[in-house]
Amino acid sequence: MRRVLVLGSTGSIGRQTLDVLRRLPQQLQLVGLAAYSDYCALQAQATEWGVEVLGLVCPPKGATGISYVGVEGLCAMVQREDVDVVVVALGGAVALEPTLAALEAGKTVALATKEVLVAAGALVMEVAQRTGAPLLPIDSEHSGAFQAMQAGKREQVARLTLTASGGPFRTRPLDTFDTITVEEALEHPNWKMGKKITVDSATMMNKGLEVIEAQWLFGLRLEQVEVLIHPQSIVHALVEFVDGSVIAQLSLPDMRLPILYALMYPERVATEFPRLRLEQIGQLTFEAPDPQRYPCLSLAYEAARIGGTMPTVLNAANEVAVRAFLEHQIRFTDIPRLVEQAMAAHAPVPPTLENVLQADAWARAWLAARLAQRSV
Ligand SMILES: NC(=O)c1ccc[n+]([C@@H]2O[C@H](COP(=O)([O-])OP(=O)(O)OC[C@H]3O[C@@H](n4cnc5c(N)ncnc54)[C@H](OP(=O)(O)O)[C@@H]3O)[C@@H](O)[C@H]2O)c1
Repeated sequence: MRRVLVLGSTGSIGRQTLDVLRRLPQQLQLVGLAAYSDYCALQAQATEWGVEVLGLVCPPKGATGISYVGVEGLCAMVQREDVDVVVVALGGAVALEPTLAALEAGKTVALATKEVLVAAGALVMEVAQRTGAPLLPIDSEHSGAFQAMQAGKREQVARLTLTASGGPFRTRPLDTFDTITVEEALEHPNWKMGKKITVDSATMMNKGLEVIEAQWLFGLRLEQVEVLIHPQSIVHALVEFVDGSVIAQLSLPDMRLPILYALMYPERVATEFPRLRLEQIGQLTFEAPDPQRYPCLSLAYEAARIGGTMPTVLNAANEVAVRAFLEHQIRFTDIPRLVEQAMAAHAPVPPTLENVLQADAWARAWLAARLAQRSV
């Protein structure tokens, strides 16, 4: 029996994780739930599951029954003795310190929150390697890559290709991008996800963050990680080995599959999830991303090339810009503009924990000041 704690249980990945747990009561036991601030949703889950180990990053006034409060609280929560696996599915870099705490305590971490590895990949991988704590990807492309990589040795991997759907604006005329509405950006063609990642998919910052995540997870050089647009979202990743052979992972777009794989690794268990029938899909197509259409992808590569705390700033600036777009404060096309400006204003330093936290806070404050001035 694996005892599972879910950080971000009220979100899209959190709820799908609970769905997987519900299907495997003999193998997986839920021991705790944590979210950001939605006390009501967390309480409802706690009642449904009969769970009393609860955490919130920002509890509302008057909240009762929450034993773990704030980032510090979550850091203590993940280190509980009755926890084997921590699912990290909070929506952003706030999950960094709880992830580090879980790895320090030797817990298995099933990671959905890609922002963690973008903000502080070197730190996270150092702790995982030092403690031997397994760090398993939930992101579908990284789960696909992880599965495909088992066909050879890590040092025999020549290239990794991550696929991207291209989002809702793959064919929209570029001269209309200034008028993109929040509603249009939230219409993802293939996946039903939280709002932030859905906007990231539309700008393709999501794929940029995933490139950085993949670099860290699999120990690859930036030039070894490529992106291809694949509008059907059936092939999630392709791993090319040194002999030229390419192993791909395919499945219907359903996040429960990578969640299940991470929770049960290295076992595979039978499921009743809908099956892929290629004859019904008919065609799988691939194309190179157009940098003009997706400037955020180039910004992510640039941040990764520069290194140090630059990816931290890329991520934090993007988190703030996407929130501002969702709140109708800025246009869709302001997102890459603001991220680029934040990166230009940052002098990167080595990514120690202190420097990462400082760079993250600096970027958020810098962007907030820009937004307040309305000078974007
Ligand atoms: N959804 C997918 O299919 C998918 C696929 C791959 C990777 N991911 C990654 O998984 C993570 C979660 O995605 P999601 O789609 O599940 O998001 P979501 O539906 O928006 O859920 C986000 C979760 O994080 C919490 N949250 C709210 N505001 C936050 C903040 N400012 N900072 C940190 N956490 C906050 C929410 O708690 P409250 O309810 O208390 O607000 C909720 O539990 C993201 O990093 C995303 O990139 C998602």
